[in-house]
Amino acid sequence: MFKGRDVLAITDFTREELERLFRAVDEIVEGKVLASRVLEGCIMATAFFEPSTRTRLSFQTAMLRLGGGYIDLAEVTRTSIAKGENLADTIRMLDSYADIIVIRHRIEGAAKFAAEIAEAPVINAGDGTRHHPTQAMIDLYAIRRFQGRIDGLVVGVLGDLKYGRAASSFIYGVTLFNISKLFLISPPSLRVRDEVKEYLRARSVNYEETEDLKEVLHELDVLYVTRIQKERFPDPMEYEKVKGSYIVTRSLLQEAKDKLVILHPLPRVDEISLDVDETPHAKYFEQAKLGIPVRMALLKLVLRGD
Ligand code: CP
Repeated sequence: MFKGRDVLAITDFTREELERLFRAVDEIVEGKVLASRVLEGCIMATAFFEPSTRTRLSFQTAMLRLGGGYIDLAEVTRTSIAKGENLADTIRMLDSYADIIVIRHRIEGAAKFAAEIAEAPVINAGDGTRHHPTQAMIDLYAIRRFQGRIDGLVVGVLGDLKYGRAASSFIYGVTLFNISKLFLISPPSLRVRDEVKEYLRARSVNYEETEDLKEVLHELDVLYVTRIQKERFPDPMEYEKVKGSYIVTRSLLQEAKDKLVILHPLPRVDEISLDVDETPHAKYFEQAKLGIPVRMALLKLVLRGD
């Protein structure tokens, strides 16, 4: 099911496969298995061509917790890419040093390209505006943990739905389950891309686009907030127009269900005000913490198969 597999997009996985992953995460979270050292002797290469805190460090922590090791490509300026080496040759080298490669790149399809070159499994840690499959795995596991289920929930996704790869992957992932309704909440210029809408229509997902969080907040069981992806705007003036156009505040949450869970892939900029952190709705730091067991379970399944 998982052994030796590339992890390129959440859409490559079935609901049953994700449930298998979640059971493996449960075992780690609940301490039912001694997960430590099961990957002793394995080496993971991390190649991040874009900034990262959570994804890079949690993959590295996950591997260390399982008894394996890692090599890190570091800043491009400190590698032979600075001398003109191409991505394909860089991947060939990582493939010859490591058992698994985790790559983040600003170019869409870069992870797929790496997977075509490497014999070792490749995990996409984010490519351009498209896919961030392991983030979606964490997000789905977090909903299941905090709400007890995913089926039947009303889910809102707020923010930059056009350029945000975490938002797209989350939308693809959550609709593998039988949610009751999906609200896509964004300024008009940051609406979800056509190909995502086509995917939702093909799966007969009950979804609605809106600009107004206030209007729909009282219906939501889950609110997934994302930042505006400043670095992906082709025109900085376009970013200036939408900057700060939505902010989740504590006072706004008076309208929310008691059990509303607020998630965010992080990093946060200003889209969730700091006073929300103190509310029982705020689950985004716990969500980020789940990145370790989810990535431990994934590494274990891909490298060992069990
Ligand atoms: N959520 C996420 O991908 O965070 P980083 O960019 O810090 O890895």
